[in-house]
Amino acid sequence: MEVLKIEGGRPLRGTLEVSGSKNASLAILSAVMLSEGPMVLHNVPDITDVRNKLDLLATFGLQWNWHEGSLYIDASTLRPEEPPESLVRPIRTSFYVLGPLLARVGRAVLPAPGGCRIGARPVDYHLKGLALLGASIGLEGGRYVATAPRLHGAEVYFDFPSAGATQHLMATATLAEGITVIHNAAMEPEVVALARFLTAMGARIEGAGTSTITITGVARLNGCEFRIPADRLQAGTYLLAGCLPGSDVTVSGILPEHQLALVNKLGEAGADVTEGADWVRVRYNGRMRGIRIKTMPYPGFATDMQQPLSAMLTLAQGASVVEETIYESRTGHVQELNRMGAQMRVEGRAILIAGVPRLQGAPVEASDLRAGAALVLAGLAADGITTIKNVHFIDRGYENIEENICRLGGSIQRVANGGARSASQRR
Ligand code: EPU
Repeated sequence: MEVLKIEGGRPLRGTLEVSGSKNASLAILSAVMLSEGPMVLHNVPDITDVRNKLDLLATFGLQWNWHEGSLYIDASTLRPEEPPESLVRPIRTSFYVLGPLLARVGRAVLPAPGGCRIGARPVDYHLKGLALLGASIGLEGGRYVATAPRLHGAEVYFDFPSAGATQHLMATATLAEGITVIHNAAMEPEVVALARFLTAMGARIEGAGTSTITITGVARLNGCEFRIPADRLQAGTYLLAGCLPGSDVTVSGILPEHQLALVNKLGEAGADVTEGADWVRVRYNGRMRGIRIKTMPYPGFATDMQQPLSAMLTLAQGASVVEETIYESRTGHVQELNRMGAQMRVEGRAILIAGVPRLQGAPVEASDLRAGAALVLAGLAADGITTIKNVHFIDRGYENIEENICRLGGSIQRVANGGARSASQRR
């Protein structure tokens, strides 16, 4: 079993770039099934979620290969095979291949996706949306069996602006006959990235990035070449490291507007934040002030940044209140941070934090991806050694995390069977 071993207490200083966006890549790696032409994707992150998604695509007959860091994909031969549950259950975006399969081959059988440690994560919006586009979908023995001889445009309204359902429906509707309008659509940058990818393949989409998206169906999509934008959530995590005592971190190659909510809250907590056309710099020397945060759909404060920011707020002067409105149980970091000396408690949908002057290193366990990121930040801030178990969660979304942190002057190692090994051996 691998653990991350962190020696805390060192300031992080310097500039780094982050890899391509996990969530944009995963959405695009479902939409590739819509095209019959060759596709080339640049800047796809080398993370386990992407590798698992590619394994899933292979079960449908898609061919892909990496060449000099870019991903070459051929979806011209597509088979509506039933993938094994092991490839679908743990990865939520596996489910987003259902619509593209229906659009291309008219039927699909897919095991139901599982819940996870941050909440139940139902797929009802996806199912209702696909039904409106003309699909018949039934649940039989834990598998969704779907058919759609022909998909047609429809008016779709989501009760909540779900990122995944917006991406799934928008992609599927590109090959439906007629016009689809998605109301109360998610406005996340990853929705915009997917729309840009689909448009590059010949899709007709208007309004991506607003709450109403209009898609005019086309008969077929072509191949294209596309660059995945930088991961705003990895970027946000490293910017938070700029709030460690004495630290000064710049993340470049990003769009500062995607960091607006985080940057605003860091400013409120007293951090010194500056930005340019494609970079953001966070410096701090002292103790943050306690603040209130409420997670919201984009452009509100991202739920994915809630856990990493909570970790930093454990060391703030005064109290903080973190209200999680997106997921019912994204609180797996709380008890682990308390093991390190934090004073946090969960009350309903809120995490109440009483700031403490110091954290102490301790053996802790990641319960999910962003809880893992929170523990890494806490470990970097704490006195002494922190070891983090369940590194596989962190590997789902952070490429080269040890290299990046070491480059900034932090001390972090991946340790397997009692010995350290370099990250390059992981590839
Ligand atoms: N929801 C439903 N029914 C649905 C779909 C969603 O009730 O059919 C609910 C969810 O349970 C949740 C809310 O709507 O309470 C928002 O979920 P959303 O669909 O927006 O989330 P998602 O698409 O499943 C993506 C990211 C998450 C990120 C959320 C919110 C990917 C692969 N995942 O999930 O990322 O937290 O949007 O922005 O894109 C992460 O990166 O750590 C992560 C979990």
